[in-house]
Amino acid sequence: RDIILIGAPVDSGKRRRGCLMGPDAYRVAGLAEALTGLGHRVTDLGNVVPDAVEIAPDARLWALGETVGWTSSLARAGEQAAGQGMPIFLGGDHALSMGTVSGVAAHAAREGKPLFLLWLDAHSDYHTLASTESGNLHGTSVAYLAGREGFTMFPPMANPIPSKNICMIGLRSVDPAEREALEETDIHLVDMRAIDENGIRAPLAEFLARVDAAGGLLHVSFDVDFLDPSIAPAVGTTSPGGTTFREAHLVMEMLYDSGLVTSLDLVELNPFLDERGKTAGLMVDLTASLLGRRIFDRPTRSLA
Ligand code: ARG
Ligand code: MN
Ligand code: MN
Ligand code: MN
Repeated sequence: RDIILIGAPVDSGKRRRGCLMGPDAYRVAGLAEALTGLGHRVTDLGNVVPDAVEIAPDARLWALGETVGWTSSLARAGEQAAGQGMPIFLGGDHALSMGTVSGVAAHAAREGKPLFLLWLDAHSDYHTLASTESGNLHGTSVAYLAGREGFTMFPPMANPIPSKNICMIGLRSVDPAEREALEETDIHLVDMRAIDENGIRAPLAEFLARVDAAGGLLHVSFDVDFLDPSIAPAVGTTSPGGTTFREAHLVMEMLYDSGLVTSLDLVELNPFLDERGKTAGLMVDLTASLLGRRIFDRPTRSLA
């Protein structure tokens, strides 16, 4: 495949700094080389910069103007790259998805195909600007993308993603206002208890079957805190009880097998918090699994 790496060093979505170093950490950890080694053609477009916008600061909303500027520049970059190959957006915090996914949604609309969104995250990021308690806009991305009300200073979400096309897996930190709002939607919610009880395979397979049946495009937004902090410490918003190394690789291998993934965000890596590149290296390995690295080809041959 033609893979397009796009650095999105967004650090405005929360107060703790460091995600701006994410794109270079992925480069140093060998992402392009891993994907080239799997037979893909990889182009690194370098880093995007935010548009300059004039928006009055809001005491409740951290770095509002900067995040709006990123949303418009990344939407352009995303729409353009989606027309040329499979974009992988190297984050950057999760506020970047407001831009990348709206750009991909514009591309999907032009192609006349429905866009599906797989949100791999401990958090639902479903706050509106009115309901966020922290004021951290990385906690509002899905609300914006789903077309929830009140994002008046942002570029209008021209192609909101229908809630039935959204699936969240890995949930274990959902604020009361998010939970109330989510319960009113058709968003497919797979929390950690569901994974404990039934495994991670069945709900993902069901969602992928729906994407396939609809002939849809699939954007995967992968927040580092989807993973358990014991294997992925380089994240500001750690939440214990996350997915394991094996669960995460299984998800990635199933996504590869499906052949459905058309774009990907890697978000919330904070290299300042990493342990000798452990998290960046794991994210590179998981991305390689999503793009075809495997132990043996399936179906496994009998060893008898
Ligand atoms: N719900 C919390 C908030 O609104 C945490 C959001 C964490 N989001 C993330 N992308 N890590 O602040
Ligand atoms: Mn296309
Ligand atoms: Mn997130
Ligand atoms: Mn998260």
